[in-house]
Amino acid sequence: MSDKKLWSGRFNQPTDAFVEAFTASVEFDQRLYRYDIAGSIAHARMLSRAGILSEQECDAIVTGLERIRDRIDQGSFPWSVELEDVHMNIESALTDAIGYAGKKLHTGRSRNDQVATDIRLWLRDEIAEIRRGILTLQQALLESAERETETIMPGFTHLQTAQPITFGHHMMAWFEMLERDRGRLADCSRRMNVMPLGAAALAGTTYPIDRHYSAQLLGFERPAENSLDAVSDRDFAIEFSAAAALIMMHLSRMSEELIIWSSAQFAFIELSDSFCTGSSIMPQKKNPDVPELIRGKSGRIFGHLISLLTLMKGQPLAYNKDNQEDKEPLFDCVDNLKGSLRIFADMIPAIHCRRENMRAAALKGFATATDLADYLVRRGTPFRDAHEVVGKAVARCVEKGCDLADLTLQELQAFSPGIDEKVFTVLTLEGSVAARNHIGGTAPDQVRAAIARARDRLAQE
Ligand code: ARG
Repeated sequence: MSDKKLWSGRFNQPTDAFVEAFTASVEFDQRLYRYDIAGSIAHARMLSRAGILSEQECDAIVTGLERIRDRIDQGSFPWSVELEDVHMNIESALTDAIGYAGKKLHTGRSRNDQVATDIRLWLRDEIAEIRRGILTLQQALLESAERETETIMPGFTHLQTAQPITFGHHMMAWFEMLERDRGRLADCSRRMNVMPLGAAALAGTTYPIDRHYSAQLLGFERPAENSLDAVSDRDFAIEFSAAAALIMMHLSRMSEELIIWSSAQFAFIELSDSFCTGSSIMPQKKNPDVPELIRGKSGRIFGHLISLLTLMKGQPLAYNKDNQEDKEPLFDCVDNLKGSLRIFADMIPAIHCRRENMRAAALKGFATATDLADYLVRRGTPFRDAHEVVGKAVARCVEKGCDLADLTLQELQAFSPGIDEKVFTVLTLEGSVAARNHIGGTAPDQVRAAIARARDRLAQE
């Protein structure tokens, strides 16, 4: 293959070797080759339909590009740093293969609209795959929620025992976070799906191109409205990274809970051995490495969002070489996000719930104190007074080292004379969760209904 630079016309001196390596992007942007070739094929077809290329030239270009794609697929394509990036490597190989017609492919376009188109095409597919990854994880959560609708655990605020909840309800909270994440990605994909091609270097082109036709060939919603914006816009990349950062933030919170719950002190769950590792020095250890690593990876994804924002903030219109720096953060975001979602979806079904331990924990820490206050309110005590009475009862229990349900009826009546036998049903864990029986509440019936609604939502996909 000829390594002659495609832009060398006005230059007398060769590029400094280090500058060449420093400015090249082929090492990482070769990953876009399928999309670069798809974009070029659509461009050639459009040029031919508009009478700018002959049919024979178009056919030669399309066949030539398809052969190059096969060679790259097979790993036998000789990428060259001298040819700087994926676009010039492919174009140069095309001209080597088919001659004269190859040199015509770049008519009416620039690498500026080309690269902006490639990234959008690539990211559109990746987003679709990530959304499927989220869906798989959501399905795993629904199954876990369904198995554990009656499993009672303490619910926390400030990581202090607050009120009893069910494990199924907790899983459905995670489901909802991910449902918003999936929606955000769909929004991002919709906004991104406009085509830069035809903007050329920055101002459009003098050829009678048909941008609606190429947009249709590439599955874009429409051509981008403004050529300057089309070549320079990377907000779609930032928007995606922001959505990615939110997903990782959610996975990190979920990881944190798995880590806490699997500690000996909580012992609410057991993670499967395949997601943990041992210690080289402490024989007793089973470390929750997978959730820890996902929690850690959230940091680099947040970093990519900041990189991309900073990359764009000082750029005047239109294209600047700075934009070449958009790819590595995006690629890393996508890879780590897909990996984290996949491993989470595998990990969830393999979680063993230690129901007795959760229940024992819910029995400690006065989780049903609010239920006692609500009971008093139903009998006519204003809520603030009820709160005070129960606070005193709790203080008495702390003194005695027992739970509210362990106090005798007489002891309870000393705090509020109206209390009768029925109070003990209110103080049970089952009574407490069952009483939160409205949409969004933790009652097992409500969780079952929430699971059914969630299934309907997913089925509409
Ligand atoms: N490798 C470049 C990028 O990733 C392609 C566009 C280069 N355009 C230019 N005029 N130098 O952004």
